[in-house]
Amino acid sequence: MPAITYELVHRDEKTGARAGIIHTPHGSFETPIFMPVGTQASVKGISPDELKELHAGIILSNTYHLFLRPGMDLVREAGGLHKFMHWDRGILTDSGGFQVFSLGPLRKITEEGVTFRSHIDGSKQFLSPEVSIAVQTALGSDIVMAFDECVPYPADFEYTKNSLARTLRWAERCKNAMTREDQGLFGIVQGGMYQELRHESVDRLIEMDLPGYSIGGLSVGEPKEMMYEVLSYTAERLPSNKPRYLMGVGTPDCLVESVERGIDMFDCVFPTRVARNGMAMTWTGRLVMKNKAFEHDHTVLEDGCGCYACRNGYTRAYIRHLVRAGEIFGLRLLTLHNLWFLQDYMRKMRKAILEDRFTEFKNDFFRNYDMRGK
Ligand code: GUN
Ligand code: ZN
Repeated sequence: MPAITYELVHRDEKTGARAGIIHTPHGSFETPIFMPVGTQASVKGISPDELKELHAGIILSNTYHLFLRPGMDLVREAGGLHKFMHWDRGILTDSGGFQVFSLGPLRKITEEGVTFRSHIDGSKQFLSPEVSIAVQTALGSDIVMAFDECVPYPADFEYTKNSLARTLRWAERCKNAMTREDQGLFGIVQGGMYQELRHESVDRLIEMDLPGYSIGGLSVGEPKEMMYEVLSYTAERLPSNKPRYLMGVGTPDCLVESVERGIDMFDCVFPTRVARNGMAMTWTGRLVMKNKAFEHDHTVLEDGCGCYACRNGYTRAYIRHLVRAGEIFGLRLLTLHNLWFLQDYMRKMRKAILEDRFTEFKNDFFRNYDMRGK
């Protein structure tokens, strides 16, 4: 039995939207799902118990950051990442590819791997498919991501083609470096904005028969319509019996558009980052809590919301005050609310899929949601 398996429960009648269940060695979760981001072995500001209150079934963490600090030996010594951070549900680790490539001029790519300077102390470091898998093996994440190059936008055909060929060779090396039975390796589809290359990428990865596939290299500055087009022709080519994960996407509008195109899993710093910038996500759009409009607003962030903040009656006026005064508690309340909002959003999307009314759900969503500020 592979470590990671996908069960397709229902496909929406009129769209590509899917409701499923993913099984991992640390429990099962329903899809579509949003994974909160815990880059440095912590979802910023909140505890694992609070994550469980949100019904989070899996979180994402980062090889790049944990490799540099505290280092793989320390996490191994602690008994792996689950034990180290006190989280006994699913963990997916990104490979470091994306983070290393966003370092820009500080890095050098060769066939062997990537040499770069640490953003922490400037020291010279090296990541490769083998090193990334060794780190992720020590971390013990349930889902391991292949080491890839996230091609920037725009990139010409030749560059993208060569980069993809190398990413595919790296994926093979990642597969060969896997040693644990309790981890599953996901391949990452690249190929920039070129249909021919995306198709090539999907076909080669399918031949590798991995337990799941992700789509990378999107939401890198291209127009949204372009992203949706690439997503459509990429997702529909992926096998229906494996999970599909769109990396780094997480605004409510992109989530619903991507689920419609058959994506099951997402991660993004968006809800936690905007919380720390004093913003609340709601079904009608984003609220900037510092605004004077909330000074005397003694209602909760969102009526009917089940999050810790709304459930216990913390008001917009109070949270506005906390944010203005620079109190950490205000940012914590917003983080809890935003993560709850997205979990609830995904749950409602799933229910709509099960009831064959996904399009109606999407139309209702856009009718109520103010896209200004996303
Ligand atoms: N996160 C967002 N996009 C990407 C990508 O293309 N590759 C990886 N490894 N992580 C990502
Ligand atoms: Zn709330």
